[in-house]
Amino acid sequence: MLVELRLATIEDTELLLEWRNDTATRQASLSSSKVTKEAHLTWLQASLGNTDRRLWIAQLEGCAVGSCRADRQQDGWLLSWTIAPDMRGKGLAYPMVLAILNSLTGPFFAQIKSDNMASIKVAEKAGFTCQETKDDVLYFVREAS
Ligand SMILES: CC(C)(COP(=O)(O)OP(=O)(O)OC[C@H]1O[C@@H](n2cnc3c(N)ncnc32)[C@H](O)[C@@H]1OP(=O)(O)O)[C@@H](O)C(=O)NCCC(=O)NCCS
Repeated sequence: MLVELRLATIEDTELLLEWRNDTATRQASLSSSKVTKEAHLTWLQASLGNTDRRLWIAQLEGCAVGSCRADRQQDGWLLSWTIAPDMRGKGLAYPMVLAILNSLTGPFFAQIKSDNMASIKVAEKAGFTCQETKDDVLYFVREAS
């Protein structure tokens, strides 16, 4: 499946807010409260202007199917990802994560809640290994290849 990444823009405000406030996304997130439109817009504007952050929309045949973020750390990139609610269960997160791994230089990190089996599987398939578990969060690392 050819999943392509494009950088997010301000035009993606509504789409990203809808995905962010989806119940399963909030459950999987380390900060699970609902985000208001205003707070989201402020966050997105700041994110788009932040040179230490990359925010992408994943597309399949030209349709937006997910989003992913990379935040620069001292020694690599912290990644997070979401698939659009109606596109889950189709194996799209794995090629999306691979596309990120191919566009940045690692190492890469990911923090995944211990009950998020789908995301854990995606991370492991993409070469991440769990280094630590703390307060129901798994800390994954993938070394630069
Ligand atoms: C987690 C998420 C990114 C997974 O995306 P996806 O591409 O739809 O994932 P899939 O449903 O295709 O599942 C990926 C793998 O996990 C497996 N899986 C799915 N649910 C599972 C479960 N409950 N238990 C065990 N394995 C499971 C699938 O069988 C698949 O395995 P495979 O690669 O061997 O075929 C997506 O569900 C999502 O966006 N969820 C909400 C937000 C979120 O959790 N983001 C990640 C935060 S860390």
